[in-house]
Amino acid sequence: MPAIELREATKRYDTGGEVVEALSGVDLTVDRGEFVSIIGPSGSGKSTLLNLLGLLDSPTTGEVWIGDQDVTDLTDENATLLRREQVGFIFQDFYLLPTLTAVENVTVPTVFTPGPPATDRAESLLARVGLADRLSHLPTELSGGQQQRVAIARSLINNPQIVLADEPTGNLDREIGTSILDELRRITDNGVSVIAVTHDELVNEYADRVVELVDGVWQ
Ligand SMILES: Nc1ncnc2c1ncn2[C@@H]1O[C@H](COP(=O)(O)OP(=O)(O)O)[C@@H](O)[C@H]1O
Ligand SMILES: [Mg+2]
Repeated sequence: MPAIELREATKRYDTGGEVVEALSGVDLTVDRGEFVSIIGPSGSGKSTLLNLLGLLDSPTTGEVWIGDQDVTDLTDENATLLRREQVGFIFQDFYLLPTLTAVENVTVPTVFTPGPPATDRAESLLARVGLADRLSHLPTELSGGQQQRVAIARSLINNPQIVLADEPTGNLDREIGTSILDELRRITDNGVSVIAVTHDELVNEYADRVVELVDGVWQ
């Protein structure tokens, strides 16, 4: 059974008169433990596709499946619950909360989970991405690359089955980028699926499969 699928997914944005078709009948099947890299020019629909996979938006037509469940038409509440349990996001712009420390930012996705904050786990994830000595730093006290690594640790805090990454190495030098990719590759060993949108050739070296999106269709 695939981990996540798009079936004939189309997405149209209607911005008052002008309709943009960002995705035009896209199929995608990603297996457990598979690392897929999606490339394509700006405006080709890559972020739209990640939003559909992450249940942040619904397709205009077509279906989204997670495991054996059709999740296309979940209520917002059920989509939120499923997303929290199954999906980790690494956004292009990090979205770290400016008043929280690195550890606190990493625990944010767990605040709805009963029990004590997942501080120990947050600290060990930060150590894994090379930030053991930056636990109490605020985002403004971290470099772009360090903020990116905090965002990666945060994406893993709930043990997701699927990790979606928009330009995960975009702001990193090659050495740190390599360590991040090693980490993403390592989590696939535990059956986690990683889907990364990127311009970075380095990511493609780590991926099991590279697919190219142009004008909302596969090349
Ligand atoms: N919320 C939106 N409203 C209207 N048009 C959008 C919206 N989001 C994206 N688009 C349009 O959809 C197309 C694909 O965008 P996007 O998925 O962001 O591409 P990419 O991530 O590959 O750069 C672009 O033409 C973009 O302008
Ligand atoms: Mg984008």
